Amino acid sequence: MSTTKPVRKAVIPVAGLGTRFLPVTKAMPKEMLPVVDKPAIQYVVEEAVSVGLDDILMITGRNKRALEDHFDRVPSLEATLEEKGDEKKLAAIQESSNLGDIHYVRQGDPKGLGHAVLCAQRHVGAEPFAVLLGDDLIDERDELLGEMIRVQQATGGSVVALMEVPREAISAYGCAKVSPVEGESFVQVHGLVEKPAPEDAPSNLAIIGRYVLHPAVFGVLEETEPGRGGEIQLTDALQTLARREGEGGGVYGVVFRGRRYDTGDKLSYLKAVVTLASERPDLGPELRSWLEEFVAGL
Ligand code: UTP
Repeated sequence: MSTTKPVRKAVIPVAGLGTRFLPVTKAMPKEMLPVVDKPAIQYVVEEAVSVGLDDILMITGRNKRALEDHFDRVPSLEATLEEKGDEKKLAAIQESSNLGDIHYVRQGDPKGLGHAVLCAQRHVGAEPFAVLLGDDLIDERDELLGEMIRVQQATGGSVVALMEVPREAISAYGCAKVSPVEGESFVQVHGLVEKPAPEDAPSNLAIIGRYVLHPAVFGVLEETEPGRGGEIQLTDALQTLARREGEGGGVYGVVFRGRRYDTGDKLSYLKAVVTLASERPDLGPELRSWLEEFVAGL
């Protein structure tokens, strides 16, 4: 049995440039794009809070104002809605400001996801912690993060979330080489490669945007040279940890088979919004019947 410390903190990097989504990301982080009526980032914060991680650190870039404002209170708007007796809207705006303890740290230069995670070192300290990417949404009806935390606590290593993708799609992701762990539902990760060509990929298992990391990752990131695209890659640091034995070593994977929505590029984002809206009781029935008519008319 491992004596690892409990996981209490979540780190959400939101300092990327979001170039796939320009021009809307010129002055706004892509994590603030609306998914139906909430910004993508709110779903992610809610997911962290739902598994007990209510100490949240966002790694922000130059456009952090909108994020901070969204998770802050707006007394004047609250007062107006109160006066009007609009309880429903009041509750909707208060929801995001009551979501646990949110802290912010600046990344400065967006030098990659690994560098963004390294910016969390002082806040996180020597405890295992979760990393959630703000443009990857996991359906609240499907469990992932809670299971990853259990695997981290059982193994004492680091844990990545994996998902099977068609082989030709693997070059958009980090890819893992894995083997089964006897008697367990998780796998051991032996190697990780960032965005491989399909013919070089060691599997069709893509790394998706959830991690539960041992704090040893910080020391490794400090030593990690910029990799692909001149960025400090988290995947490269995890590759080092996967090969390490003893304290803080070992990387494991939880294969997710539930519903995931990518909001990081235009087409995936549109699919995510339509899927989630069509399942909403308040919008779904009308949207679905309109979609049927629309498709029939194409
Ligand atoms: P992505 O590669 O998806 O984000 O990084 P990006 O660089 O913003 O997007 P494109 O490719 O230019 O469109 C994954 C996550 O890591 C964060 C991003 O905000 C995103 O949530 N990130 C990335 C940082 O916080 N800092 C970085 O230096 C890079």
